[in-house]
Amino acid sequence: TKQKLWGGRFTGKTDPLMHEFNQSLKYDKRMYAADIKGSIAYAKSNCQKGILTKEEEAKMVAGLNAVLKEWEDGKFVIQADDEDIHTANERRLSELIGPLGGKLHTGRSRNDQVATDMRMWLLDEVNKTEDALKDLLRVLTERADKEMSVLMPGYTHLQRGQPIRWSHFLCYHAFSFASDLDRLRQLIPRISVLPLGSGALAGNPFSIDREFLRQELGFDSIAENSMWGVADRDFIVEFMMWASLCMTHMSRLAEDLIIYSTAEFGFVTLSDAYSTGSSIMPQKKNPDSLELLRGKSGRVFGNMAGFMMTLKGLPATYNKDLQEDKEPLFDTVDNIGASLRIAEGVIATLNIHPEKMQAALTMDMLATDLADYLVRKGTPFRETHHISGRAVALAEKLQIPMSELRLAQYKELSPKFEPDVKDVFDFEASVERRNAIGGPSKEMIARQVRVLREIVAKQ
Ligand code: ARG
Repeated sequence: TKQKLWGGRFTGKTDPLMHEFNQSLKYDKRMYAADIKGSIAYAKSNCQKGILTKEEEAKMVAGLNAVLKEWEDGKFVIQADDEDIHTANERRLSELIGPLGGKLHTGRSRNDQVATDMRMWLLDEVNKTEDALKDLLRVLTERADKEMSVLMPGYTHLQRGQPIRWSHFLCYHAFSFASDLDRLRQLIPRISVLPLGSGALAGNPFSIDREFLRQELGFDSIAENSMWGVADRDFIVEFMMWASLCMTHMSRLAEDLIIYSTAEFGFVTLSDAYSTGSSIMPQKKNPDSLELLRGKSGRVFGNMAGFMMTLKGLPATYNKDLQEDKEPLFDTVDNIGASLRIAEGVIATLNIHPEKMQAALTMDMLATDLADYLVRKGTPFRETHHISGRAVALAEKLQIPMSELRLAQYKELSPKFEPDVKDVFDFEASVERRNAIGGPSKEMIARQVRVLREIVAKQ
């Protein structure tokens, strides 16, 4: 049998289960393009240092591009002995260009190689994630702009609180995602640090030009300590922390819409495209898309927490434990991407029922406005809160809406009540009175829409 790339000092064979256990190619092959790109830059820099002649460099780059093409065409044939994407690509390169292939790895280790590949691959994925996040933000923002006239109850403790605009609710969730967008952009400089040239741990003995490598591979900066360069996986943890928080926001949005889509609320109906039926109950239309968004938030958090457990307690520098960074990261990237796209689709196709939202508005939700009415007549708020509370209790006792209490009954609670008290009981007016920055008045919703659009457009 053929010798493993590291087989020189070995006389015994690898246990078959151990080979399986050690093998990461089945999942790390998705980094094939980053791996080859890194190797091409590395070959060029080795040529600069006289390790490869110009002709050798050209031959090696052509060989690497041929390997890349095989992957892209689905023609790369994996061999039983291939361990990971790095050994597989190098094995294939040597098959194509002969012993010259063996010069590629001069001064390099899979330790700096894999750290470089992971960072390049993740930078690419962060871009795609950012696009998906921006699309979700756009859908939320455009709906908020269009559906500004729809009123609904705003809740605290899931109890009816004060009237708001449907758009205020949409913008609330959008601002959570806008902060995710901001945080995602802030991760980039810490991912974009070049490990290549760190060697196994103690640096490169052929005074490789790392500044050249940085430019060639498009990194922002260079790992200043070679031990850190090969050992650091904080960028993976940070991305998974980011994803956990973003999924938390997704889960809260999903939970709201699940509640609003029940028959009891009936505020929204999910489109068929994002619902499923029951295998036994013919009437059912279940919000599976939203439930999966809520469910996957747990899984993404688990990926982050699990990998942090792997990291803690590892001695300097590279340890094979670090290979366990891949599956949780890949799973996180896949699930956050899919979740953002699903959320976008759900929001874009959601049917809303403004009449149901309107019908859920009850006069007691204007009790704060009634207290504010007396504040405007000069009564201290703490007093007006009690007076308004007594009005709520009286209406409840008489089983009538607060707006039906007679002026005389109001005057008994406070002499400051006048005929204009009836103006309090208007939901639209209540929402429009909340015209300070952040409020649900039309003007302030328009402002929120504008700010959100600016955040999405920034970069
Ligand atoms: N597949 C390995 C990983 O993902 C590559 C690095 C292997 N390095 C080593 N010294 N065994 O971490």
